Amino acid sequence: MSTAAAKSVESPFLEAKVSHADVASFADESVNLKREDAKEYREQVARLRDKLDKYASDHPEYGLIKTLLSGSLAKGTALKTLNDIDVAFYVKAEKSPSSEPDLLEWLAKRVRDAYPQMKPDQIAVNNHSVCIKYAVSGLSVDVVPVQYKGDPDGRGYLFGFNGSDPVLTSIPLHLEFIRKRKATQELHFAQVIRLVKWWVRLQKSKDSEFRLKSFMTEMIVAHLADSGVSMADYPNALDKVFGYIVKSRLKSRISFTDYYPASKLPGPSGKAMEVFDPVNETNNVAAVYDESHRQRIVSAAQDALEAIAEARYATTRGKAVECWQDVLGPSFRG
Ligand SMILES: Nc1ncnc2c1ncn2[C@@H]1O[C@H](COP(=O)(O)OP(=O)(O)OP(=O)(O)O)[C@@H](O)[C@H]1O
Ligand SMILES: [Mg+2]
Repeated sequence: MSTAAAKSVESPFLEAKVSHADVASFADESVNLKREDAKEYREQVARLRDKLDKYASDHPEYGLIKTLLSGSLAKGTALKTLNDIDVAFYVKAEKSPSSEPDLLEWLAKRVRDAYPQMKPDQIAVNNHSVCIKYAVSGLSVDVVPVQYKGDPDGRGYLFGFNGSDPVLTSIPLHLEFIRKRKATQELHFAQVIRLVKWWVRLQKSKDSEFRLKSFMTEMIVAHLADSGVSMADYPNALDKVFGYIVKSRLKSRISFTDYYPASKLPGPSGKAMEVFDPVNETNNVAAVYDESHRQRIVSAAQDALEAIAEARYATTRGKAVECWQDVLGPSFRG
């Protein structure tokens, strides 16, 4: 084929591609929590935390220690659709009830006391937290108790991750873990996490049995980033993430050596998936997922991988956009 003929075949192919810039601007407009909103939420939650922290120090007899912003708003991995803000409340283990239901009731009572201007039903005990609902903004803050025994790295016991058993973990170290990776691949590490979380959201809307919690998504992307995968080109990075899920079928262990050596990890657990908490080698974050959860994730990732490949070879831009809509949803317009 002459060079001219090759070009005429190649150029529409190149134009058809959905580019990094397309995905980046979609992320900016539709996926990410807007900077102004994040600022407003942070300010609102800071006022709440000030109130709770002051209450804690004014009433040392209760054994409340201090609050800490946790979750995606703290990590910079929140989506536009964020509706819960996570706050951890460190409490002295020896001064607070040890069972989860009693602990939550006890905490709710303290929070109501600290916040008398709220109507009692605005502060309710949820599954694993005390939920504060703001009437005006509709915003909810989930206050999660952490039973603390004095660990300098902020390790404490949290409920809700592993049936009724408390799990020893450290929110400050989790924040540090994410921040380290964010610093290595500025903007892009957190952006790829947000895009994958967006994809997870789409899967959940299509399949009520689909599960992939945000923390696990972060661990999968962190595992790839640590293996040298660049997150700088978003279509490429997503291709790598889905490719990894498909290839490993999520049967390979994911773990990190930031806070313990690999030699401390337990032997095979027989669980469908193993994604270890970076600060506690005995905590398999995926322990509650079974074979069918694993298969659903792998099969959805396979679909995404195929859609990305098809988009690459699409002959028109419209077709490429359609393929990407399978990954990023119908609001993606390219
Ligand atoms: N299984 C777990 N074991 C230990 N810690 C956990 C576990 N699940 C969640 N966490 C802690 O709770 C924090 C928040 O949980 P998660 O990452 O799932 O939600 P999020 O980042 O707030 O995301 P979303 O945007 O979905 O609300 C994590 O950063 C981590 O510190
Ligand atoms: Mg959250």
